[in-house]
Amino acid sequence: MSRILILGSTGPSGTDIIRFALQDRADAKIVLFVRSPQKLPEEIKSNPSVNIVEGQLEDTAALEQALEGVDAIMSALGPSSSSHPKDAPIAQFYKKLLRMMRERGIKRLLVLGTASASDPVNDGFSLGYKAMVLGVYMFYWAGYNEFHTLGEILRGPEGKDIEWTMVRVPILTEEDKVGTVAGYIGDGKVGLRLARKAFARFMVDELGKREWVCKMPAVSNA
Ligand SMILES: NC(=O)c1ccc[n+]([C@@H]2O[C@H](COP(=O)([O-])OP(=O)(O)OC[C@H]3O[C@@H](n4cnc5c(N)ncnc54)[C@H](OP(=O)(O)O)[C@@H]3O)[C@@H](O)[C@H]2O)c1
Repeated sequence: MSRILILGSTGPSGTDIIRFALQDRADAKIVLFVRSPQKLPEEIKSNPSVNIVEGQLEDTAALEQALEGVDAIMSALGPSSSSHPKDAPIAQFYKKLLRMMRERGIKRLLVLGTASASDPVNDGFSLGYKAMVLGVYMFYWAGYNEFHTLGEILRGPEGKDIEWTMVRVPILTEEDKVGTVAGYIGDGKVGLRLARKAFARFMVDELGKREWVCKMPAVSNA
């Protein structure tokens, strides 16, 4: 039996990841590390395959408990308010998580990212993406800084030996779609909108397919 840890699971994208994971992996135990368990839907809280560990990102003891026996981690963590701190607490949390993964031999990490983290080798020019990133940079620095820093961390020494995938999302929507295209910015394929449900479908599929290990695909609606 496998054990999958899901982070950021109290937001709509994270909740969709839980639902697809429960649907596809009936034999798996799903562990949720959350600071606001009251936000989880009742049907998830009462599911016998779900194990909830409560804690803040800074709570290392609770994180240790959540990581016990875990084989893979999927995360939809990200800043969700305009008052989000500017010093990238989520990216700093990922640094600690990567260290703790390495100590425990946990290899696989799939995270939500954005185009604020660029792929210097594979990305090309896209006016739409350029405008979006510039807008975030100017009007939501805290959000820009989180994902930009996370990209640097994953590609740097802290991400070494970890089979990470950063799934870079554009504008997230509530559309009822699951089809996606994945590629790189400026490749003429990837668009500017992605249904949260489609993001979650992509994450859970990629966990099994492993097509984007140590890569930063930009993903949009098909
Ligand atoms: N809206 C868009 O168009 C768009 C575009 C690109 C990227 N994004 C990013 O995509 C992510 C997912 O979006 P979403 O709308 O599905 O979910 P969301 O409501 O923004 O949820 C984000 C998740 O991260 C957690 N979180 C945020 N700050 C935290 C902190 N300091 N400590 C612990 N947990 C924290 C939240 O926990 P709590 O529930 O406890 O707050 C929640 O589980 C967001 O981070 C957002 O920044 C959004």
